[in-house]
Amino acid sequence: MDLQLEGKRALVSGSTAGIGFAIAEALAKEGASVIVNGRTEKRVSGALKKLQDSGVRGQLQALAADLGNADGVRRAIELFSAVDILVNNLGIFEVKPFQEIGDDD
Ligand SMILES: NC(=O)c1ccc[n+]([C@@H]2O[C@H](COP(=O)([O-])OP(=O)(O)OC[C@H]3O[C@@H](n4cnc5c(N)ncnc54)[C@H](OP(=O)(O)O)[C@@H]3O)[C@@H](O)[C@H]2O)c1
Repeated sequence: MDLQLEGKRALVSGSTAGIGFAIAEALAKEGASVIVNGRTEKRVSGALKKLQDSGVRGQLQALAADLGNADGVRRAIELFSAVDILVNNLGIFEVKPFQEIGDDD
């Protein structure tokens, strides 16, 4: 089945491992151009190599940035001002009473 993702630019947050990596791989196999994100250059380049070795069709781009803070988000917007597909995979989970969740969280 052709999902018509050829050449579309996709950003998958938190995609050096786990579910995000699997999503990035599936999109790149469909021919999408995928931006792979993690917090460090080392982890991102490791994931890019794994994806290249698996023979994906789509282009791969690196975004080493912590998207859990404003500086990281700013960097992402500077590098990639527009995407066709955004997969907000990154999540931060911590059990906390509602009243203790501040603006930074
Ligand atoms: N696994 C489950 O059973 C499950 C169930 C329900 C929901 N979820 C949700 O699904 C999502 C993925 O879970 P997962 O199990 O696949 O996680 P995982 O294997 O721990 O992978 C987390 C990914 O997020 C990246 N990451 C973490 N903090 C980041 C940050 N601040 N900025 C950028 N990248 C960051 C990590 O990259 P680096 O370490 O390279 O920075 C890694 O690529 C999460 O939102 C999780 O809450 C998971």
